[in-house]
Amino acid sequence: MCAGGFSSVVLVAGAVAAGGLLTAAAPVGTTDRAPSAWAGGTPAPVGVQAPTDPLDGRDSADAGSAISDTIPVWELAGDPDSDEPVERGAYLARVGNCVTCHTEEDAEETDFMAGGPPVEADFGTFYGTNITPDPDHGIGGWSEGDLARALREGRGPDGTHFYPAFPYTSFTGMSDGDVADLYAFLMEVPPVARENRPHDLPWYMSVRTAVAAWNAFNFREGRFQQDPERDEEWNRGAYLSRAVAHCSECHSSRTTSGGVDEDLRYAGTSEGMDGDPVPNITPHDETGIGGWSERHLTRYLDFGMDPDGDFAGGSMGAVISRGTSYMTDDDRRVLVRYIRSLEPIDHSVD
Ligand code: HEC
Ligand code: HEC
Repeated sequence: MCAGGFSSVVLVAGAVAAGGLLTAAAPVGTTDRAPSAWAGGTPAPVGVQAPTDPLDGRDSADAGSAISDTIPVWELAGDPDSDEPVERGAYLARVGNCVTCHTEEDAEETDFMAGGPPVEADFGTFYGTNITPDPDHGIGGWSEGDLARALREGRGPDGTHFYPAFPYTSFTGMSDGDVADLYAFLMEVPPVARENRPHDLPWYMSVRTAVAAWNAFNFREGRFQQDPERDEEWNRGAYLSRAVAHCSECHSSRTTSGGVDEDLRYAGTSEGMDGDPVPNITPHDETGIGGWSERHLTRYLDFGMDPDGDFAGGSMGAVISRGTSYMTDDDRRVLVRYIRSLEPIDHSVD
């Protein structure tokens, strides 16, 4: 039945997919940390970030009400170290690609989080839903527990199974604090009364109970577990990659039942989006990114330029421009450290 069906779930961020033109992949907002390269300009040097922090100099006690008065919620780049849950949630929504999948390009008040560009899987096309707090069309009626259940169990308030095009398989690792921050942020988003676009699926996949079988094979619910053998930074990098930014959802080969093949996690797949391969990002010298320095990887995740001076294309373009380019230097550094610490796997995807 649904065997293999959910493999190579891939986001096609419209403009990026259309001819790989990075010029159209500029991220949302004025406070973004994305460098000018995304707008077609000259790449900024590594580590350069916009100096503006929306909460700089602001007393945390009055930050709550001030946020939406000064910087509109849909333009918040977010800050993981803020005292303000909405700021921390905004950050997670960028780094976790919630914005990428649930918002069309160039979002503004009227469509922020109100439904996203097509997400292509082997057997169908999905659309990120309206997750604004509109009571009828969005998640306005949801409690924080409902959001936690969606992210961690892949189920709606009434128990409905979500399709794993929504990567709850990774988000299940999120901490209670991060789920609470995401909830605080989503509830501040302007409600938009926009209907969900139906997914484009063959009849046999339109039965959501098929997902229960898929889950039985491929999904294990559970929070991210710290590795006590490693230090705090490594664990933060691992958490960001595994639970939030879900790098291995795309960068892994899949088993015949459609789950991540644990032996090839991060080792790439020859059957990614549109049948194109997704590279092996383990530090294997010949088949992975063993030849990339820490600086190469940092620069790539910051503004998309690889060691040869080429820019990231396909779905990775959107992951960077709408996701990892928003990371703080510290988070990007620990993420890079984690990726570079992976066991090298000899796996060629071409
Ligand atoms: C790769 C694309 C993708 C990413 C990344 C993603 N989502 Fe989604 N999300 C989807 C799709 C597609 C659905 C619809 C699933 C379905 O209909 O079964 C969905 C459904 C949901 C739902 C259920 C809403 C409803 O209408 O019932 C919630 C809540 C949600 N996502 C929140 C989030 C949050 C929060 C994040 C970031 C932490 C996130 N999503 C990241 C694609 C994505
Ligand atoms: C939605 C799918 C997707 C996600 C999520 C994703 N990637 Fe990618 N990644 C790709 C694709 C596709 C490419 C190939 C890009 C190209 O052809 O220019 C790529 C390329 C890369 C490369 C370049 C490798 C090379 O050999 O050229 C690196 C490094 C990388 N990704 C790291 C990451 C990290 C780290 C994360 C998590 C923060 C991540 N990716 C999340 C799809 C994804």
